[in-house]
Amino acid sequence: MSQLNIDWANLPFGYMPTDYNVRCYFRNGAWGEIELCSEENINIHMAATCLHYGQEAFEGLKAFRCKDGKIRIFRMEANAERLQSTCRGILMPELPTEKFCEMVKKVVKMNERFIPPYESGASLYIRPLLIGTGAQVGVRPANEYLFVIFVTPVGPYFKGGFAANPYVVIREFDRSAPLGTGIYKVGGNYAASLLANKKAHDLGYSCEFYLDAKEKKYIDEAGAANFFGIKNNTYITPKSTSILPSITNRSLMQLAEDLGLKVERRQIPIEELATFEEAGACGTAAVISPIERIDDLELNKSYIIAKDGKPGPISKKLYDKLRGIQYGDEPDVHNWVTVLD
Ligand code: PLP
Ligand code: COI
Repeated sequence: MSQLNIDWANLPFGYMPTDYNVRCYFRNGAWGEIELCSEENINIHMAATCLHYGQEAFEGLKAFRCKDGKIRIFRMEANAERLQSTCRGILMPELPTEKFCEMVKKVVKMNERFIPPYESGASLYIRPLLIGTGAQVGVRPANEYLFVIFVTPVGPYFKGGFAANPYVVIREFDRSAPLGTGIYKVGGNYAASLLANKKAHDLGYSCEFYLDAKEKKYIDEAGAANFFGIKNNTYITPKSTSILPSITNRSLMQLAEDLGLKVERRQIPIEELATFEEAGACGTAAVISPIERIDDLELNKSYIIAKDGKPGPISKKLYDKLRGIQYGDEPDVHNWVTVLD
């Protein structure tokens, strides 16, 4: 294994070429063999449905190099299942969990030298992508698909990693409709978030939060992360038909319960932000990004959550527990990690 000249501790969340990706084609009604590939480009038909009609889905998960020298992958079966749910949502053929996991393990193994060292706190981001490659001009699902997974070493998604940051509610855009595709991980949701995200960044915020599109009353989620709030020893997170079912959030709900907190999944009126002792944005890329405050610009309101500008104690406990399990420093009592052989 040749040495890489990478500043692991200061990695951004960005794309860096690695040695291999893995691919699998769906043709004639069946998934083919797994192919190992060192080519970064994909060659597809100009009338492919992913290009015209957004028949595209992706996933995001991580692998960690641990103190014991082992490599651990976090909850890949859950990502396989969410991808299957997305497939049902936009009429793509479901990839079996077994094939998904075999491909994840293979691409991580083949790019082992790109997994950041334990001490750096960085990780290997795994990006599965499923696209309709068959040509159509009418709005119909493709008859051919490509599933590809690439990996890239990454650092924190939000500034400072586990540091409190300001967020903003953007009322003038919706990310997804109540009965739309928000619950699926499809590219269209992210296209819909680009303008709001740029606005949030231009104004100096970490990222944007969306309210429910119908009533504009309740917190939905951020552009690339779920929301949770903590008060009265309770972990509270939105119940909504237009947010992504986050695997990190699901894990945090379990860890919160393990820590003796009550867990509530329910609508969260925006005014309730004023009552939270702690809050965070959570996701694979974000891990937990503590929220310092959320500004509601149009209504000229500011909800200050971290009064001292620092992450709260329960968020810290949850963060340490989650990272501990991912890096193999804590027992994996819920069977979340796969240790690579
Ligand atoms: N919500 C959105 C819109 C996301 O893009 C992500 C990232 O995957 C999440 C939430 C967090 O989901 P997970 O914890 O499964 O990564
Ligand atoms: C993730 O957390 O895995 C995401 O997909 C977030 C973002 C980079 C889209």
